[in-house]
Parts: sequence; C-alpha cells; structure tokens
Amino acid sequence: MPTLVIVGAQWGDEAKGKIVDVLGSQADVVVRFSGGNNAGHTVILGPQTFKFHLLPAGILHPQSVGILGSGMVIDPKGLLDELDRTLALTAEIGELKISSAAHVVFPYHRLLDQMQEEARGENKIGTTSRGIGPAYEDKVSRIGIRMAEFVCPDRFARRLREVAGVKNRLLELFGQPKFDVDELHAEYSEYADRIRPYVADTDILIQDAVLSGKKVLFEGAQGTFLDLDCGTYPYVTSSHPIAGGACLGTGIGPRYLDSILGVAKAYTTRVGSGPFPTEQDNEVGVRIREQGQEFGTTTGRGRRCGWLDLVALRQSCRLNSLSGLIMTRLDVLSGIPELQVATSYRLDGQSLDHLPADVQDLARVEAVYEALEGWDGDLRSARSMHDLPASTRRYLEFVTDFCQTPLAIVSIGPDREETILTAEIWASTPR
Ligand code: IMP
Repeated sequence: MPTLVIVGAQWGDEAKGKIVDVLGSQADVVVRFSGGNNAGHTVILGPQTFKFHLLPAGILHPQSVGILGSGMVIDPKGLLDELDRTLALTAEIGELKISSAAHVVFPYHRLLDQMQEEARGENKIGTTSRGIGPAYEDKVSRIGIRMAEFVCPDRFARRLREVAGVKNRLLELFGQPKFDVDELHAEYSEYADRIRPYVADTDILIQDAVLSGKKVLFEGAQGTFLDLDCGTYPYVTSSHPIAGGACLGTGIGPRYLDSILGVAKAYTTRVGSGPFPTEQDNEVGVRIREQGQEFGTTTGRGRRCGWLDLVALRQSCRLNSLSGLIMTRLDVLSGIPELQVATSYRLDGQSLDHLPADVQDLARVEAVYEALEGWDGDLRSARSMHDLPASTRRYLEFVTDFCQTPLAIVSIGPDREETILTAEIWASTPR
C-alpha cells in the first residue's frame, strides 16, 4: 500500500513541483496538505509552463485525483483563476476534490497580512501578502470559514456577517475602510457556486484510497524550516510543511506513511526575512541567482542564495524522518571550480552540529565550510548516475553520507526527462 510524502527539505522553492509531476504519473491520488497560494510550483511540459499555487502539481496526470487537503487555506478566486488558466493550456487534468474542512481566504485576510507586516516595522517576516497568516489565525481563533460553510448559501451569509463584525473593527484599528459585507457576499457567492461541486469530505476519500492499496502522493508546499513549530520562528509560514503535516492536513494517521522524500537544492535559497547561515551576499550568490533564475514564482522577488547548508539538511532529514533525498538543480552549480558546503556552525566559540532553536542564536552562528571540487559542462543530458561528472557524484556522495540518508532522485533540469531515479520510488510495503 504505497503512500509517498514529498516535502521541501530547506526553506522552500526546492523544485518540488517538477518532482511531484514526475512521480505523480504513477499516483492514483495526489494530495496537497498545507499552505495556500503562498506556494508556487512550476511544471514545464515541452513548450508549456504551468505555475501552480493551489492545485496539486500532480493534477497534470488525468488518471489521478487531485485533492486540496483539510490543512490548506484556499483563496477561491485564486483557485478558480488557476483552474481556468490550466484548462486553457490542457484539457488533460485529473479530477479535483477540495476538503470541506479547508479554510477560505478572503480579501480581508490579504489586507490584514499587509497591515500586520507594515506594523512589524524592521521585524517584517517578508510574507507573500496572500493573507495566509491571518487565515490560519482565524482557524486557530475558531472564527474561520471552512469550505463546508462557504458552499452552503445560508450558512455562508450568516458566518460572513459574524466575522465581519470582528474584521471591520480590526481594519478600523489599522485606519482602513470597513469592507462592505453585501458586496463581498455577492462576489464570493458566485465563486462558491463554482467551487461547490468539488467540495467533499476528503479525509474519508484519502483513508479509503490508502486502505484499498491505491498509490497516494502527499505533496508538500514551502519547506521544512518555514514550519510554524520546527522552523526559524517567527520567520516562518503559518502551517506545517514538514512530513508530519501530511497527517495533520489530510486526516490520515502516521503509520500510513510508507515513504518520505525530501527535496533539496544543491545549494540553499530563502525568500523573505530570517537568518540564513550560508547566505552569500556577494558575487557567488549573484551568480547562483542569475544561473538558477532564482526569482519567486508567487511574488517575483529575487531569492537570497547561498551554499548548501548540510547542518540544516541533516536536521531536516531527522525532522521529516526522510527515507530518501532528492537533489535538484545540480546543473546550476556547473562552472564553479570549488564548492563550499557547511558542515558545522560556530556560536560563541563553541561548535554546533544543529540549528539552535532560538532565532537570535541562529542569526549569530557562523557557518564552517568544507570545500568540494566543482564540475563543468552541461549536466542536463545525463540520464544515469554514470553520465554525471565524477566530481558531481562525489558531491552527492558527500551529502548523503553526511546526512545518513540515501539518494532517491537527482534532477538536472526542469523537464520531466531531466531526472535520474536511483531507486524504486513507489515501494510496495505491505501494511
Ligand atoms: P507567508 O506564508 O506568506 O505568511 O510568508 C511567511 C514566510 O514564508 C515568508 O518568509 C515567505 O517568503 C515564506 N514563504 C511562503 N511561501 C513560500 C514558498 O512557497 N517558498 C518559499 N518561501 C515561502
């Protein structure tokens, strides 16, 4: 009964979209379990580029069912626009289901996201301004509007009025005009009408799929160190991108997770604020950004770039209990004669082998590097490990030895074919 979780092993943007697309070809069900349209997953199919923010990247396989899980927060307008954009490019998509327990993102969430960021002054998180944090705040405060209520006209009208009382008071505090409940209700009721047919109790669908032996892929968004609890708080997102989030955000128990793969770039990037021990705010970082076109899919922001942080990656392997590592974007490092990888940190004269939990300490650590030989030339034509330069293979070996986690996949370009599978991914573990 193979279930497979794909998570970002760093700070997001590890090229998970492509990996989910490749592995999704064999999946019966693909489920996104956390976040909202703060995510940006790019899939390139020949001449077409798909940019997904809410739809599971696995939706491009017509045989599979794509599910937006209960752990997500969903902007209805964003979702419908994305669905229309996708259908304009291809009719070949899988069936879509949306969890009745997922929360709905409204314009007041987006506005409050911006207001709160402004109010933070120098301590800005650098959010994507998609209203994600405020929507999760409502969920935790138990005033959020779930999909089941949203698509039920009477309940939606009543709940929106209730919530408006609270939100309009907050907006007033921020010096913003109140939102017009009737106007918002009229606009969003139209979206609700279109979304209604997709809404279902997906927890049950997923449990049934898992127990009947279907192949279920759990698609993570963002990355391990953006996790609300385990990441670099407060510079994190408001959900759980770690493997444990696949249980929280879909309604299945931990014993049903067979295989967990973590996607990591051959270097490190981060967008938004927060400590980044291996950041290269110099010509190395610029080179990686240009070579890798490291600009956000959602916001277009230039990503901060740096060397591979093995201290963080090893911690990520443990946090997620990874069964295997997927290394992406090795092609971007081509042509750099000597590569650095961080193997420990120094803090107040002490050596550290992990990320300190307190963000202020993490901001003060100094990365200690080992130098590894680089490689040259175009890696994108490689189709097996033997096609890769010897120094690329040694780099990968160093990473997997250090992290004590086997290599599962190597990605050397954006296309489906530019992928080397080093192991059988869909294990058929009897349960
Ligand atoms: P939020 O998720 O929009 O609240 O943003 C919180 C933090 O998470 C910010 O630093 C964002 O840049 C970061 N973030 C959110 N989504 C992504 C993503 O998909 N990739 C990388 N960073 C992200």
